[in-house]
Amino acid sequence: MLEQLENLKKEFNAELQNAKDKTALLNIKAQYIGKTGKMNDILSKMKDASIEVKKSVGAKSNEIKSEMSEKIDEKLAQIETAEINENLAKNWVDITLTDGRRDLGLNCAGYHPVSIVQREIEDIFISMGFEILDGPHIEDDYHNFEALNIPPTHPARDMQDTFWFSDMKHLLRTHTSTIQVRGMESHKPPFKFVGPGKVFRCEATDASHEIAFHQLEGMMVGENVSVANLIYFMKTLLSEIFRKDVEVRLRPGFFPFVEPGFELDIRCLNCGGNGCSVCKHSGWLELLPCGMVHPNVLKYGGIDTEKYNGFAFGLGLDRLVMMRYKIDDIRLIHSGDLRFVKQFAEF
Ligand code: FA5
Repeated sequence: MLEQLENLKKEFNAELQNAKDKTALLNIKAQYIGKTGKMNDILSKMKDASIEVKKSVGAKSNEIKSEMSEKIDEKLAQIETAEINENLAKNWVDITLTDGRRDLGLNCAGYHPVSIVQREIEDIFISMGFEILDGPHIEDDYHNFEALNIPPTHPARDMQDTFWFSDMKHLLRTHTSTIQVRGMESHKPPFKFVGPGKVFRCEATDASHEIAFHQLEGMMVGENVSVANLIYFMKTLLSEIFRKDVEVRLRPGFFPFVEPGFELDIRCLNCGGNGCSVCKHSGWLELLPCGMVHPNVLKYGGIDTEKYNGFAFGLGLDRLVMMRYKIDDIRLIHSGDLRFVKQFAEF
């Protein structure tokens, strides 16, 4: 039996030498020292042997087994090192190269102007203690309409031409106010958050209207929240974003989910208020609808309206970007034209 073990060792060494990859190694391992391998095959014949034989064969087989195991590990390490070296040689990267893509006239990445402004706004609100929330593009009737005090028969549903899915139960969200509903579901008052994102409306496009555009929702709920709080946060936002005082006006606005509701307009920065296609020659641009959250909406959100109230707003992000960079047509923002995007590239 000892002789058989020695022969097995020789056979193993020869096979190991020829093994070229990991699969071959694993096969050899299974074949020789695996549960149903050759080593156990030999040992199984020891049943009727004397104690002395069992002892010596057992010791020898253990010795050979650990020798085989070590050799397999050693070979495995060799194969892995060879693989790594081959990879390094093939996929060689010169890490000393500078980023000369722009000088070479190659296409290079940068942040989209909407992302640049969105990040700035997020930072402004974070510095004022707001959280940033997100929500899905595909929504249901409840989150987009019903929980926002817009029942199926309400005429306000016509204000937002909706892309419905064929099941007529799901839709592409028409506004980020859905994030208000989801925020109330996941938070207990007091809380304040903003939720930026893409929204979709089936409407004709022009210089200030797109079918897919961005909004940034904001909501604050607590005890004794007032219109003064709302105006404070809106003014802080606009003066930080434009880095100068901007002229705004507040007028009554109707949205079923706020009461009272307002429209905050900004003096058109594209034409300085003289009138242009962006502001439809009115000198003002509708930018920031807002208001005090309707008690029905708070109730849908499970909030005690005896104790808490709040404000909400829904900023038109693309329009803010247009004002900031004096872009005279919203359709440029989503054109995917690199010549446009590169003008704002920040790395
Ligand atoms: C809403 O969508 C409300 N959910 C906003 C709101 C939130 C009101 C919370 C009160 C409280 P509105 O449909 O007006 O409201 O859209 C909000 C902003 O999105 C507009 O002021 C405008 O700046 C922008 N906007 C609306 N339609 C388009 C469009 N087709 N293309 C680009 N921007 C648009």
